Amino acid sequence: MDINTLKDAVARVRVIPVLVLDDISLARPLAEALVRGGLNVLEITLRTPNALRIMSEMAKVEGAIVGSGTVRGFDHMQQSVDAGCQFMVSPGAPRELLASAQNIDIPLLPGVSSPTEAMGAAEMGYSFLKFFPAQAMGGTAVLKSFASPFPDLVFCPTGGVSPANAPNYLGLCNVICVGGSWVTPTELVEKKDFAAIEGLARQATLLGR
Ligand code: 3PG
Repeated sequence: MDINTLKDAVARVRVIPVLVLDDISLARPLAEALVRGGLNVLEITLRTPNALRIMSEMAKVEGAIVGSGTVRGFDHMQQSVDAGCQFMVSPGAPRELLASAQNIDIPLLPGVSSPTEAMGAAEMGYSFLKFFPAQAMGGTAVLKSFASPFPDLVFCPTGGVSPANAPNYLGLCNVICVGGSWVTPTELVEKKDFAAIEGLARQATLLGR
């Protein structure tokens, strides 16, 4: 998947569930519930021992577009490709990481939270960026301020995004989509309440309309 295909996919759903999961047996039913609910672009964070196996399982779910999150090095990138991921997300944008990603076949969304970081990423050819941690770094006010100096950049704010503030982000001209963990609350995942998660996904699809 190239960056433009990814942009089209996220522009359709407007919300990317960000998952922290370690129980492999939950991977497929959880991804299936999210896809049924209308959210088919999923970010699986590399924060648990089984994250790569979970990505592989989720990548087998029909219609799911699986990406790796919390990517911090070249090993993570290669492992993400091997696990069947179609994109990668990083919390930051160190120059070495951005350079490494250019040797990988799937696109990377680098994380930025300041004008200098945005300019560094843009200079290296990245124009679709994660704004992280969105709420803590100033939220919609910052993204509005980015629009004029950086008309060529679009963002996926993540970190502290909720159903209450998502519409404000999604209403901005430089926001394609938001990411967040609220669609898959730990208690519902642990209870295997996939019907409730499907319902949260369905509600999330309405936030950008
Ligand atoms: C993260 O990287 O943890 C994501 O940004 C999710 O943040 P959230 O839990 O605040 O939605």
